[in-house]
Amino acid sequence: MADSITITDNRTGESVEIPITNGGVAAADWSKFLPGVWFYDPGFMSTAACESAITYLDGEAGILRYRGYPIEQLAERSSYLEVAYLLLHGDLPTADQFEAWRHEITMHTFIHENVRKRFLEGFHYDAHPMGMLVSAVAALSTFYLDAKEIFDPASRNKQIIRLIAKMPTLAAAAHRFSVGMPFVYPDNSLDFASNFLSMMWKVAEPRFEADPVLSRALDVLFILHADHEQNCSTTAMRVVGSSHADPYSATAAAAAALYGPRHGGANEAVIKMLTEIGSIDNVPDFIAGVKAGNGRLQGFGHRVYKSYDPRAKIIKHTADQVFEVTGKNPLLDIALKLEEIALSDEYFTSRRLYPNVDFYSGLIYQAMGFPLEMFPVLFAIPRTAGWLAHWQEMLDQDSKIARPRQLYIGTEPRDYVGIDARS
Ligand code: ACO
Repeated sequence: MADSITITDNRTGESVEIPITNGGVAAADWSKFLPGVWFYDPGFMSTAACESAITYLDGEAGILRYRGYPIEQLAERSSYLEVAYLLLHGDLPTADQFEAWRHEITMHTFIHENVRKRFLEGFHYDAHPMGMLVSAVAALSTFYLDAKEIFDPASRNKQIIRLIAKMPTLAAAAHRFSVGMPFVYPDNSLDFASNFLSMMWKVAEPRFEADPVLSRALDVLFILHADHEQNCSTTAMRVVGSSHADPYSATAAAAAALYGPRHGGANEAVIKMLTEIGSIDNVPDFIAGVKAGNGRLQGFGHRVYKSYDPRAKIIKHTADQVFEVTGKNPLLDIALKLEEIALSDEYFTSRRLYPNVDFYSGLIYQAMGFPLEMFPVLFAIPRTAGWLAHWQEMLDQDSKIARPRQLYIGTEPRDYVGIDARS
């Protein structure tokens, strides 16, 4: 059997055989054979828009690997900064490489005072922190004019370091502003996650000491969210980057894509759902309602995963550790009951609906004191490493500008009619 497909144009009887390479068939071969006939694929359900060596995802088997390393091993033994290096450089760093990387990131955590004073403090008092973050990241491009030199390796590396380092500072600043608290400067003696927690929660103490269990839990969540191949925001990053926009503008576009409730907002929907259910006793009725078509079980199901999301398993374990410090999130029992019923119910099993990463992450964030509005912001901080890894890969591949075709369904040509003559 040949590892190829044959397409026959029934209008002419001509055929072409196209090899299947890495699980795909090249559209270039197809379009040479059928010029002007477009592959219609809304939502890119069946389109591979690029080749990528960064993340491997097998939704049937529930496998997720960064650069070949299983997510379970990285979550257990690595750190977010090491994973960011791995995603961007392709291999785990040596001790010296890691120290240099950690030092560079730590030395770039501060933001220009005008970003805070002129941009962040210019927002309305009740601005959503994710809207502030998206705008602040875009504004950074005006502070670093060298960012336009995207084919200069030194400049590119500098912007990557700045973006990874400054995201927690901008994120915490957006939160502090939205609750009327003063900005907290980075403490560069702290590790990445602890520094973020310090900027979030510090009040009047000379030094904020985050609970090490909570710092580690946040770092694990950052590892789990660092990349997920061609999702909506990463695609936005690649599309905008393909026009050779600077990386701050492309990252702002990616963060904007993450802002939407279908992408970065699902864990917030889980918390709202659990709050509405209110008690374990109401779970069976809620499940019956979902089965009858009244809404969805938030945090269940995934476009790619058709088995248990491997990240959800790790997060469940992390949740137990967090709750030992913070006390149990009262919504946990409702979540566990929902999962227990759903996993034994034919409606959910036959549709292969399992908990996804968002089912438990919101419970952890809430127990740690983060307001719901910060959930997409917490997602954007680590995903920045993934976005930048894809941006860099796309540039190294000398990728073409993203420009899909359309199937025109509008009116036939017609002549302009003056406004007085229109009926
Ligand atoms: N609860 C109840 N039924 C569901 C759910 C759910 N969460 N998800 C899918 N279904 C059902 C659908 O009703 C449909 O049933 P039908 O065949 O009888 O019509 C079937 O399963 C297939 O559903 P689709 O919407 O076609 O699946 P799709 O792959 O397009 O959707 C999605 C995936 C959007 C994630 C969906 O499962 C969903 O809405 N889940 C809830 C929201 C959520 O948790 N989103 C987070 C995703 S993870 C992330 O983005 C980081």
